[in-house]
Formats: sequence, C-alpha cells, structure tokens
Amino acid sequence: MPYAMDGLPERVTIHEVGPRDGLQNEKTVVATEVKAEFVERLADAGLTRIETTSFVHPKWVPQLADADDLLTRLERRPGIRYPVLVPNERGLERALALGVTEIAIFGSATESFARRNLNRSVETQFDMFAPVVERALANGLMVRAYLSMCFGDPWEGPVPVDQVVRAGRRLLDLGCAELSLGDTIGVGTPGHVAALIDAFGSPDRLAVHFHDTYGQALANTLTALRHGVSVVDASAGGIGGCPYAESATGNLATEDLVWMLDGLGVETGVDLRSLVSTSLWLAGLLGRPSPSRVVQALAKEA
Ligand code: HMG
Ligand code: MG
Repeated sequence: MPYAMDGLPERVTIHEVGPRDGLQNEKTVVATEVKAEFVERLADAGLTRIETTSFVHPKWVPQLADADDLLTRLERRPGIRYPVLVPNERGLERALALGVTEIAIFGSATESFARRNLNRSVETQFDMFAPVVERALANGLMVRAYLSMCFGDPWEGPVPVDQVVRAGRRLLDLGCAELSLGDTIGVGTPGHVAALIDAFGSPDRLAVHFHDTYGQALANTLTALRHGVSVVDASAGGIGGCPYAESATGNLATEDLVWMLDGLGVETGVDLRSLVSTSLWLAGLLGRPSPSRVVQALAKEA
C-alpha cells in the first residue's frame, strides 16, 4: 500500500543508462551479445528509454567500441527509445548510418572536465555540438543534452550555480529537447539540487543524473521531483561511472529509485522483480555484487 507525498509527479520517466554509463566504466569489456541481452532484459522489465551505447572515439572508451555492432544486432522494439551518446559529427554519421532516432550530446560545466572528456574548452565544446544538433534535428532525431560537473568538479571544487545555468542554457538553446543535470562525482546535496533547479527558472526540460558516490542520489532525486522534475536517470544495479573522472562511482540504482517510487505510489511502469533478476544476472557475469541496496535486499527472493 503506497503512502503518497504532496508535491510529486504522478508518473516518473526513468532514463535507463546502465548499458552506456554502467558498461563504459567496467574494467573488462563486456561481450556484444551480453550487452544486447542486457538491453532486451531492461525492455522486458518495462523500461522505455534505454541509453544503449556511445558513438565516441573507440580509443577513448574501448568498452563501447562495439557500438555499431551492438546497434546492428539489437532488435529495436516499437515504443522503446534507444538513445546513444554522440559528441561530434563523426559520431552522428555513424549513428545515422544505423538508423538511430535519438542522440545525446554531453557537455561540461567546467574547463577541467571539458578538456579531459572532450579534448575541448567549455567554449569550443559548443562549436563541436552545434552542427551535430542542427543536423540531427534536420533528420528528425530527438536530441538530449547532458551537462556534467553540475555540483562539484574533482579538479576545481564546488561549481557555482550560475556557471552551470549559463552552460545548460546554451545547450538547450542549441535546440535540445531535454537537459540532464549531471552530478558526475556524486557530491551534491538536496539544498544544492533545489537551488540549481530553481535557478533555471523552470524544471520543464530538465532531467537529473546522480552518481551515488556519497550516498546522496536518492535524497537528491526526491528533492528534484519536489521541484518539478519528472525525468530521472538511473542505472540497473547501480553500475556506472566516468573513465575521465576517477572519483565518479556508480549511478543511482534503478532498483533503489523504483523501490522509493513504488512506495510513494508514483508510477514508473517498471517491474522491480524482473529488474532485480537482470541486475543479479549481470553482476554474476561481471563477477562482483551489485552495489544497489535494493538488489542486495531482494536477491534471495529473485
Ligand atoms: P579528439 O581527439 O579531439 O578528436 O577527440 P578529433 O575530432 O581531433 O578527431 C581525431 C580522430 O578521431 C579523427 O580520425 C576522427 O575521425 C576520429 P583521423 O582523421 O585522425 O583518422 N574520431 C572518431 N572516430 C569515431 N567516432 C567518433 C570520432 N570522433 C573523432 N565519434 C572526442 C574528441 C570528442 C572524439 C573524444 O574526446 C571522445 O571520444 N570523448 C568521449 C569521452 C566519453 O565518452 N566520456 C564518457 C561519457 S560522458 C559521461 O559519462 C558523463 C555523463 O554520464 C553525465 C555525468 O555523469 O555527468 C554523460
Ligand atoms: Mg554519468
């Protein structure tokens, strides 16, 4: 029996990032057929937005070097969205050739991370993204934007809210439908989340993307929901991180999010038991237990 709380959306859309943010950070390269099965199982569990892979330089992220092969292999189901990360025109070419219908560009709010992750400055990252978004929109694609280091940066420390809002608005102004605010290293706390969302003026096109390094992801998510956000990024089993920011650990676990939302009576369309068994299956293949508390708690029942 759910116990509702005021000020929450009736329904939350989960943007599942396990196959991309999760697997990009694994030390071992996961076989393409395992990735395909992971995506299939996530769809079976009721996830409708599954970020599948990245069309980045294969040397930069060898874990996802099989992006073209994976997309070719994957049977894409109607009603399910399979966004992929695309940083530049070369990445877009590859994605278009495979019939991708949704991409995400990914910018940085800080100079240090822009250099490390994109080999660009904050300013020149927009020059790289602008033609990508323009061409993607002209081809009828949906475009999401990420902004990383929205709360703190491992090299620069706390990141001022106005610096984040400035960079985020520029990504939205390129024509992106949605902006996902990334706490890449998981240092944000609820008051900071509220201040950042409010500083944007409207939560309508915002999503949140919390890594759980300091155990704040769920509290931060609840705060974001109470401030009008209704799209939340999460990764099955809580896997994830960024190879270009070592202090980044796993994402908010989808199971932890669904447990909380089920308890609140907020709809997600996700079947928790089915998701838990998927994460247990993957943890077995990766050779280590899932960091998700809910996966651990439900493991015996699955
Ligand atoms: P660069 O070295 O500046 O690239 O890297 P370039 O434009 O100078 O091109 C150099 C060569 O790479 C060229 O080949 C290009 O064709 C090739 P050459 O002509 O010399 O033979 N190339 C490519 N090949 C295949 N696919 C491509 C591609 N692009 C260029 N897309 C670049 C710039 C952006 C490519 C590089 O920095 C890169 O790939 N970065 C990706 C890093 C990444 O994926 N990080 C993890 C994702 S972000 C994240 O996890 C954060 C997030 O979760 C949110 C959060 O938590 O905050 C989203
Ligand atoms: Mg991330």
